[in-house]
Amino acid sequence: MGQAAVKCTVVETHPPAKLNLYLELLGKRADGYHDLETVMIAIGHRDRLRVTRTEHSSISLECRWSPSVAVWRQRLPSAAPDTFSLPPAAQNLVTRALERFRSAFGVGGGFRVELDKRIPAGAGMGGASSDAASALLAAAALCGVEPNDPRLLEIAADLGSDVPFFLRPRAEAVADRATAADEGAAAGECGRSTSMALAAGRGERLTALIAAPKLHFVVIYPPEPLSTPRVFSHCQVPADPQSAAGWTLPLGGKDRREIPPLFNRLSEPAREISGWIEKALRALEGVGLRGATMTGSGSACFALADSARAARRAAALLSARRTGLCFAAVPASLPATIRTMT
Ligand code: C5P
Repeated sequence: MGQAAVKCTVVETHPPAKLNLYLELLGKRADGYHDLETVMIAIGHRDRLRVTRTEHSSISLECRWSPSVAVWRQRLPSAAPDTFSLPPAAQNLVTRALERFRSAFGVGGGFRVELDKRIPAGAGMGGASSDAASALLAAAALCGVEPNDPRLLEIAADLGSDVPFFLRPRAEAVADRATAADEGAAAGECGRSTSMALAAGRGERLTALIAAPKLHFVVIYPPEPLSTPRVFSHCQVPADPQSAAGWTLPLGGKDRREIPPLFNRLSEPAREISGWIEKALRALEGVGLRGATMTGSGSACFALADSARAARRAAALLSARRTGLCFAAVPASLPATIRTMT
């Protein structure tokens, strides 16, 4: 079973959101999914997840918005009433992840979970996927399972296309790639560059990339979430897809090479479904930010600022205009740290 003695009963972690810097569709598959290539980066905008191992065999989940729904509504006054509805606990990806973990590793007892959600839903920021990946890592820590046990990755890929990204290839994979590709410069950065990956297949096949170390994002979440299956159902696979080749070279090394242009093929169907996408992109450009694009299947959009100060300033300006909920963010390393509480 590969389990060591249990050393703790409560762990806490802060699952990060992600942004898609690049996303191209390559084909429609027989199983209904799309083959794609996407570059994802984790950012330091996070949920909070606390998992307690219990003797009782149930898996319980208490999930709430943070700050409260009332505060979210104040910040997004034109949001549809169901924007902040949460799925029943049994359907939450965290509960499903823990059920799968328990049966895969033959673990007795149960788990009690508290989840504070700060990552918006229907945003394309991977909140539910990140929570599920963190729940797997939390359960692994609580039950003495190695965090790089391949069964965790299998469960993650089954739960959703984005979940494996948040478990992440470890720093060694990045180091190997960096050493081969850029001899010294990028390799020196690998210790803090485990936040970005190229994902292929339906999103579950990952290659670690060297992240440009100084990216400053401004994110805007419009008052209308988007459903991933709905956006994909409106998409068109291009006859001549773009190549992700420019993204596989180490970025931001000695020469501080600029990142390739941000791009998202899914912004075409998302724009057809929601008028908010265009408004959000224009708002980002209107405050002088670069490369405005959508993340994942939307509805959140983001752009690049030249410094942390410029990002905070733009986010404050945009918040005052009420196009959506706005915040500045920087890359975060993966996987999220699991802290032992008791
Ligand atoms: O994998 P996940 O459950 O997140 O996918 C949600 C939906 O998004 C799928 O049911 C599918 O309709 C669509 N999808 C897709 N191709 C992908 C990823 C998702 O068509 N690569």
